[in-house]
Amino acid sequence: LISVCTRFLSGNRAAKKGIQVNIQALLSDKVSQALIAAGASTDCEPQVRQSAKVQFGDYQANGVMAQAKKLGMPPRQLAEKVLENLDLTGIASKVEIAGPGFINIFLDPVFLAAQVEQAVVSERAGVSTIATPETIVIDYSAPNVAKEMHVGHLRSTIIGDAAARTLSFLGHKVIRANHVGDWGTQFGMLIAFLEKQQQENAGEMALADLEGFYREAKKHYDEDEAFAERARGYVVKLQGGDEYCREMWRKLVDITMTQNQITYDRLNVTLTRDDVMGESLYNAMLPGIVADLKAKGLAVESEGATVVFLDEFKNKEGEPMGVIIQKKDGGYLYTTTDIACAKYRYETLHADRVLYYIDSRQHQHLMQAWTIVRKAGYVPESVPLEHHMFGMMLGKDGKPFKTRAGGTVKLADLLDEALERARKLVSEKNPDMPADELNALANAVGIGAVKYADLSKNRTTDYVFDWDNMLAFEGNTAPYMQYAYTRVLSVFRKAGIDEQSITAPVVIGNERESVLAARLLQLEETLAVVVRDGTPHVMCAYLYDVAGLFSAFYEHCPILSAEQPVRDSRLQLARLTAKVLKIGLDTLGIETVERM
Ligand code: ARG
Repeated sequence: LISVCTRFLSGNRAAKKGIQVNIQALLSDKVSQALIAAGASTDCEPQVRQSAKVQFGDYQANGVMAQAKKLGMPPRQLAEKVLENLDLTGIASKVEIAGPGFINIFLDPVFLAAQVEQAVVSERAGVSTIATPETIVIDYSAPNVAKEMHVGHLRSTIIGDAAARTLSFLGHKVIRANHVGDWGTQFGMLIAFLEKQQQENAGEMALADLEGFYREAKKHYDEDEAFAERARGYVVKLQGGDEYCREMWRKLVDITMTQNQITYDRLNVTLTRDDVMGESLYNAMLPGIVADLKAKGLAVESEGATVVFLDEFKNKEGEPMGVIIQKKDGGYLYTTTDIACAKYRYETLHADRVLYYIDSRQHQHLMQAWTIVRKAGYVPESVPLEHHMFGMMLGKDGKPFKTRAGGTVKLADLLDEALERARKLVSEKNPDMPADELNALANAVGIGAVKYADLSKNRTTDYVFDWDNMLAFEGNTAPYMQYAYTRVLSVFRKAGIDEQSITAPVVIGNERESVLAARLLQLEETLAVVVRDGTPHVMCAYLYDVAGLFSAFYEHCPILSAEQPVRDSRLQLARLTAKVLKIGLDTLGIETVERM
């Protein structure tokens, strides 16, 4: 890093007025203006990023190189011209050119102090609500009726819920769409079996074990011809709207969703019964869609079925792939439903954007459905349909996560185990804690650990489910983050100070304070990335970093033993740290506790 131009700009208290907490946005704006003044086009991208290393300052503008290329100018020369036009008075204390033409920006401690003062009194830690809220539909969780929720649904549920919380926090209108698998030919068999159970158990329904129920139903269907006959009859009747079959079907959906709701509540997931928008919701639309696709020349008859051939996808022979939308027997498919569903979300729910949290194995399915949706003009290109896919949950052996006996892990059992392990862990650390508090703590830690382990990994890859890692008090884990939060609170508790009562000004007096302050002020920027990409792990990494910076600050900058006004100024930094951690963990759906 060679710096040819270093400029020190003096900050002043006047900078306290006209405060803007999204520093990246503020700097982007300023650098853009300077680029334009230096000859760049008006649509130039300043590319202002948080610096990767302290020696590069707090932010780095990387947009000069691309503009220099366009202008046919040596990048460093353009960078110098940009600096001449860049007025960061009251914002930066130093701006320098580095490498081939990067601009390193060092924030002014006075500016930072003013920002912290503003953020610390705000309930949202200075994060503003979005200027133009959108209606965003989030498709997540989506378990299947009469089946146990499995680990695949766990990932979708946890990550999707974090996205929903984050988007709502920013002020968007979020519609949670639980695309429950509540339709299909299996319902004939399930109704027939429910009926049989009701007769045998005089109305008592043994649906507690959904997996077992499904297995038994299937067994009867395969082995008992009379039963199978009855089941097939019920499918037809159900599809025809027969009242008795509808009633039995509704019972199956109800029982399943009542059980799933218990899991959602335990998981501290915001889904409710009102969010169920199952596959059956789109039934009435399907014949119209097939007819319309035919009329538009997109769908054709092929061997008795109705098929859309897509050039965008090739089969093994290299020919356009045929996507069946209606079977020979008149039945519709999963794809047909997803076509209708996307249309409904745009037309009826007025979605501006739709996010789908579904595992990566369904990527091709979604792409095919959406290609048809776009071709048919059901959803305009201006409304993004985004597949926020995720990988599989693996066991420690690197194979799909299973019970020791090789079966699917029931979510309820998984959560029981999380609780038990967390209880052991926290009771060892807090032998004198009253039982009530201990239970609440074990719950926060156990459930938090399971959720955080998932949230903290980049969702696109598979991830290894490992109890020891997720319950460790070191590293990027829920227990560590929850503990870090209580540690900040303990500063106030120890001194018997009500944090609301501090009104002292903030003075940033050293490097540790300034690094912590700058990072604390990046909450909004972090949230922006999470909602743009649907990547809660970015929030986890940010919070982990904040916790680490606070730790270093706490260790090197005595708070309670410091003289005034330093003491109160440092308390303000601690207070903002607590706020940022709390808000960040809230957007992830991770519970915090006051002490542990
Ligand atoms: N129920 C499906 C499954 O268990 C997931 C549904 C996802 N959402 C959708 N719109 N296709 O695999």
